[in-house]
Amino acid sequence: MKTSLQLFICVIILLSMVEAEPDPLQDYCVADTKSPFFINGALCINPKFVVSSHFATSALAIRGKTSGNMFGSNVTLTNTANLPGLNTMGLTLARIDIAGNGIVPPHSHPRASEVTICLDGTLLVGFVDTSGRLFTQQLRPGESFVFPNGLIHFLFNLDSFKPALALSGLNSQNPGAQIASLATFTSKPSIIDEILKKAFQINGQDVSKIRKNLGG
Ligand SMILES: *[C@@H]1O[C@H](CO)[C@@H](O)[C@H](O)[C@H]1NC(C)=O
Repeated sequence: MKTSLQLFICVIILLSMVEAEPDPLQDYCVADTKSPFFINGALCINPKFVVSSHFATSALAIRGKTSGNMFGSNVTLTNTANLPGLNTMGLTLARIDIAGNGIVPPHSHPRASEVTICLDGTLLVGFVDTSGRLFTQQLRPGESFVFPNGLIHFLFNLDSFKPALALSGLNSQNPGAQIASLATFTSKPSIIDEILKKAFQINGQDVSKIRKNLGG
C-alpha cells in the first residue's frame, strides 16, 4: 500500500517534470514584437492594449509553394510575429504542403515533440529512436502520428502527382529544426571534408558533390 502511494507520487512528480516549457504566470503575454530586449520568449504588451486579433492568424490559410525547392515541401509556422497571442503558451502549429513524391527530409526539433495529422493525400511518416530503430506508418486523411522530442523524423508524399497536406502541433513556441543533410553538408563555415568523408564513408568528390547538390 505504502509503496504504491510512493510510486503514485513519483509518477506525479515525473509527469510535472516533462513539461516542455514553464507555465505562463498570467492569462496571456501577447508578444511585443518590437521590443529590443531578449528574454526566454518575447516581452508582453500591456494587457490593456490586447485585442482579439492578437489571438488569431491567417498565416496557415496560405498554401506553401512547393515548386522550385529541392525537397518539394514547404512548412509554414505560427510564431510570435504572425500570432503574438501564443507567446509563452508553449505551442506552435505548422502547415506542411508536400508536392507529389516530395519530402520533409529527416530532421529534428531540439525543443518539441510533434503530433501531425494528414489532412489530404497519402503520407509515409516515421522517426528513428536513439537505438537506431525505425518506426514508420502510412497516413490517410484524418490519421495522426507523433514524433518524440528531438528524434530524427520525416514525411514523404507517396503519391507521384497529388499534393499532400498535413498539420502539426508542437509543444514549444520555438521548436527549432535541424535538417540532418543540411546541418552536416551546408553549415557555415563548412565541417571539414575529412570529417564528412569518415562519417559517411565517402570520398572528397562525393563530399563536394553532395555539398553542391544541397546548395552549400
Ligand atoms: C513557401 O511558400 C511561400 C508562400 O508561397 C513562399 O513565399 C516561400 O518562398 C516558400 N518557401 C520555400 C522554401 O519554397
